[in-house]
Formats: sequence, structure tokens, C-alpha cells
Amino acid sequence: MTRIRLGINVDHVATVREARKIAEPDPVQAAILAEQAGADQITVHLREDRRHIQDRDVRVLRDVLHVPLNLEMAATQEMVSVALEVRPDQVTLVPERRQEITTEGGLDVVGNRDNVAYTTRYLRDAGISVALFVDPDLQQIKESRRAGADAIEFHTGSYCNIPRGEDTTAALNQLREACRAAARLGLHVHAGHGLNLRNIEPVARIAEIEEVNIGHSIVARALFVGFPEAVREMREMLDLSRGSA
Ligand code: PXP
Repeated sequence: MTRIRLGINVDHVATVREARKIAEPDPVQAAILAEQAGADQITVHLREDRRHIQDRDVRVLRDVLHVPLNLEMAATQEMVSVALEVRPDQVTLVPERRQEITTEGGLDVVGNRDNVAYTTRYLRDAGISVALFVDPDLQQIKESRRAGADAIEFHTGSYCNIPRGEDTTAALNQLREACRAAARLGLHVHAGHGLNLRNIEPVARIAEIEEVNIGHSIVARALFVGFPEAVREMREMLDLSRGSA
């Protein structure tokens, strides 16, 4: 199996910073450390309410990174303007609700087909690759293909949120089938949400997955082992899971 790309999401470094509204800890510094430790991509979610990542972070990241920048954002006019100014390598369109603690489900591409297709086309015409963050559901996959997306990122929450000790077979099978279906339609396949050192292995073993984006568990782990080590541990786990270590 080919090497899986590891995207590191640094949003929650900014969450700690915004708890005090001062300059540290700096998500840009975390991103540079992640890059040096082997991250293949840096991911940030610029939320409408700016609760963690700020516009300036995205602009500075664009200037300093050597690896690709993946901007997660809602399909709104405001965010499209930011993307056209910053020009990330990839945009991942996500749903957004102000009250949610985190992104709780995938984008409803079927229910918002016109806006998603329009936004996807607009970004792709500007030379930005577009991924759609969706649940592992066949209708959403087909509609994502119709919308002209380059890639699909499967929301792994339905698997990762299963309490420890309970059966994950059905959720994993659903994810595997969705990955297969997306790849068959010619979409690049990504995955993310809730992934950590304990649950990543069966996900990393799904051959169609080319990229994972991981945030919270890396930042949580970094508090105890440091950012570079947290990234290295995950890199090693991905390689071991794929049998390519
Ligand atoms: N991928 C997408 C599209 C997301 O919205 C998020 C959460 O911001 C992640 C990946 C990372 O999820 P987590 O922080 O649970 O690792």
C-alpha cells in the first residue's frame, strides 16, 4: 500500500491562545514544528465565529509553509473571498453551525447541491483543489462527484465516537465501502475527525485512503510529549498500520 499523507490540524493550538486573547501559543509555530517532524500538510479551519484560527494565521501560514496548506471552511461568500486571497493548495468544504463544539457531521451535498457545486467550481477555476467533507453515504458521494470535487474527506466520527469496548465492525464496514465507492468514481479519498493513536489502525489500513487530517488528539498528546513527538508517533503508527514501516 502507498504511504498515507498526514495532515496536521493546528486549530486547537489557537483555541488555547484565544482563551487569553494573547499571542501564544502560536499555531504557526506548531505548524512549523509539525512540518519539520514529517507532516505532509497543515490544515486549519477558519470558522465564521473565528473561535480559534484567525485570518492572519492563515495568511502567515501561506507565507511560511513548505508543505501544502489545506483550508477547511464553510461554502459561504465570505470564506470564498478569503480563499481567493490566500490561495491555499486545497480547500475542504465543511458544514458549520455556530453552536456546535466541533464539526458534528458531514456536509449535506445532496441538500445543498447548487451552492456546493457553484462554490466548488469557483474555487477549482481559481486553481484550488477542492475536497468535500461528507459522511460515508453513497448519495453524498455521488453528489460530490457531480459537484466536480477533486476529493472527498470522510467524516470518521461515526466510527471514532463509538465508546471503547463496543463493536466497531458496522461503522468500519460502512467507511470501507464508502471509500471504495468514492475511489471507483474517480475521487481522491481523505479521512478525518476523532482519529487518535488508539483508533487509527483500521482506518489507515483502508487502501483507498490517501490522506488523513488529525487535530485534537495531536494537540492533546503534544501537551505531554511535545508537538514534534506527537507528529512522529502518528506518522509511525500510520506506517506500521500500512505495513510500510
Ligand atoms: N477534518 C475535518 C474536515 C475537520 O473539520 C476536522 C475538525 O476540525 C478534522 C479533520 C480534525 O478532527 P480532529 O480535531 O477530531 O482530529
